[in-house]
Amino acid sequence: MSTQDMFAEPENGQDGAAQRAIELRDELNHHAYLYYTLDAPVLPDAEYDKLFQELVALEKANPALRSADSPTQRVGAKALDGFETVRHAVPMLSIRTETDTEPSGAENFDTRIRRELELAPEQPELEYVCELKFDGLAMSLRYEDGVLVQAATRGDGEVGEDVTENIRTIGQIPLRLKGDAPPVLEVRGEVYMRRDDFESLNERQRARIAAGEKGEKTFVNPRNAAAGAVRQLDSAIAAQRPLSFFAYGVGDVTAPGEGWQPFETHYELLMRLREWGLPVAKETAVVKGARGLIDFHQSIGAQRDDLPFDIDGVVYKVNSLSLQRRLGFVTREPRWAVAHKYPAQEQLTTVEAIDVQVGRTGKLTPVAKLAPVFVGGVTVTNATLHNEDEARRKDVRVGDTVVVRRAGDVIPEVVSTLPEKRQPGAEVFSMPRHCPICGSDAVREEGEADFRCTGGLFCPAQRKQSILHFAQRRAMDVEGLGDKLVEQLVDAGVVKTLADLYRLGLSSLVALERMAEKSAQNVLDGLEKSKSTTLPRFLFGLGIRHVGEATAKDLARHFGTLDAVMQADEEALLAVADVGPVVAASVHTFFAQAHNREVVEQLVACGVHWPEEAVDHDAPKPLAGLTVVLTGTLPTMGRDEAKAMLEAAGAKVSGSVSKKTAYVVAGAEAGSKLDKAQALGITVLDEEGMKALLATSSPPMGE
Ligand code: IVH
Repeated sequence: MSTQDMFAEPENGQDGAAQRAIELRDELNHHAYLYYTLDAPVLPDAEYDKLFQELVALEKANPALRSADSPTQRVGAKALDGFETVRHAVPMLSIRTETDTEPSGAENFDTRIRRELELAPEQPELEYVCELKFDGLAMSLRYEDGVLVQAATRGDGEVGEDVTENIRTIGQIPLRLKGDAPPVLEVRGEVYMRRDDFESLNERQRARIAAGEKGEKTFVNPRNAAAGAVRQLDSAIAAQRPLSFFAYGVGDVTAPGEGWQPFETHYELLMRLREWGLPVAKETAVVKGARGLIDFHQSIGAQRDDLPFDIDGVVYKVNSLSLQRRLGFVTREPRWAVAHKYPAQEQLTTVEAIDVQVGRTGKLTPVAKLAPVFVGGVTVTNATLHNEDEARRKDVRVGDTVVVRRAGDVIPEVVSTLPEKRQPGAEVFSMPRHCPICGSDAVREEGEADFRCTGGLFCPAQRKQSILHFAQRRAMDVEGLGDKLVEQLVDAGVVKTLADLYRLGLSSLVALERMAEKSAQNVLDGLEKSKSTTLPRFLFGLGIRHVGEATAKDLARHFGTLDAVMQADEEALLAVADVGPVVAASVHTFFAQAHNREVVEQLVACGVHWPEEAVDHDAPKPLAGLTVVLTGTLPTMGRDEAKAMLEAAGAKVSGSVSKKTAYVVAGAEAGSKLDKAQALGITVLDEEGMKALLATSSPPMGE
């Protein structure tokens, strides 16, 4: 069957099956929009699956019903041999970059625009739309009569590649637009990968490599991972690479008929795109004059590391489309837009030494000690060389001039060296064969990239790192337990196991150098507070190899209790979504060791606790399909604990209140979310109310 037939619209004069297929398609597309784009699902996954399977069966029996906007067509049938080329109806332009990263960069743009428009200083300030400059790859999505018919890469701006099959797998991209979209609409935007999706993809890739799967690799950054996924010839593989999309403009658009009001401003256009179901970044803002541009640049600069995705600057666009037309283009760039960058994330410096650090699992990491250099907004003095192979491949030597890179809160790394600047006689780096901390043998196992210290918890470096891992914010979140203190505690022999942390007394802390009674008490308070935690945090904190945050959550969700995780054999572990043989073996081996079980028991004996509930996989989830928002400080319960309890009951816990929110649980100092809930007439509960709700399963009031 050709693709043409597969995507043929059903004949007119449809029977019941055709009608039902249309209903199912509309319903599934609507729920995909709520789930992926609004992040506010209302339908439990199982219900969605039921409808989806019904559509699959219908289409199987009547292949003519398989239309292009059917959600069953998100993953194509077979791998392609290569990509077809596509000539863009309207060329995909690039954008001028302002390299002055200071506020003057924004002033330059405003001054230039005013000059080109011949505006006198006393004339009013211009309106601009400020957007993020997403660090992904440009995409053109062509919708005909509201249906996605083609997705193409930018290519050279005139001719790109047809990547429709892969783009269909992106849940955020509507296969059919909502509402009154024009007959032809080309949406221009950026395909990107969120940082958390990138981390879990690499976590899975590492497990695959460890399992000996051939041809697998980890990705350097989200942009490369996204580009790789878009250019996958097999859309089934692309579907496993979680991509996202933001719209920022249009290409070809035809009016639906006489009297159609074209957009007057760029902002209006973006809002229409949003109404038609396309994701538009919530940071997008309309501002006035140079001051507005500068404020936006600075405010986004301050949030940059906390955004869930990478950006490499912001974009300013003249808001009025008629002014845009007046300004026109220079060669391939519009005069009405500019990208304003942030300080470089790469700089040159010199290597003063190469040290070898010992990690939590004994991994030896060569680290370049650098002449201090200001990069990505901070002064960097250390940069990782990852492992022996990487250090060899880059051939970094002491005294070399190197390129260092820092992006977000990622550890700075040495990207490359400039051999032409090398001092004569500089020696090739080689990894030591003994642990530089405890002197145990360092070995590199078959198929592994890393050398490891064989000292285990005998090695003070491994002990320190395990404790820091356990105490970190994303694990047990022990406030006040920093690396200097952990170093002292381990060196003094006061803390040998994780459980020893909870046995610390005021006197042993005060006995340490530079530790006043007040700070000692703060540490004890931090430890006490950390005892109330969640199972995923606890599991992650134990530092089991290959168990990152995502896997810890999967394990907790699947098994419900720590006992169940500890007792699971490899087969039971393999039943967990996203757990493969390497992770299963690692978890099983960890809990098979008597000393690990002992530490866990001691931690629990010291008072570490979390809400747990045996998971009955068939048990009804009273809050399934309901979205709950937590706000303010609850009297007795930590936010994570409350969240875990709600999730265990099937609720989705969201960060923002909307019409779809079923309940808002509010504690002390609840702010705007509570106001919004009251304005929308959403049921507001306190902690007691939430507990009562979890104990019963009554439906929300007033619905
Ligand atoms: S507008 C006519 N807006 O940056 C102007 N581009 O050289 C066309 N990009 O690869 C581009 N975020 O994919 C525009 N908010 C944004 C953007 C953006 C990222 C990328 C775009 C292209 C490059 C422009």
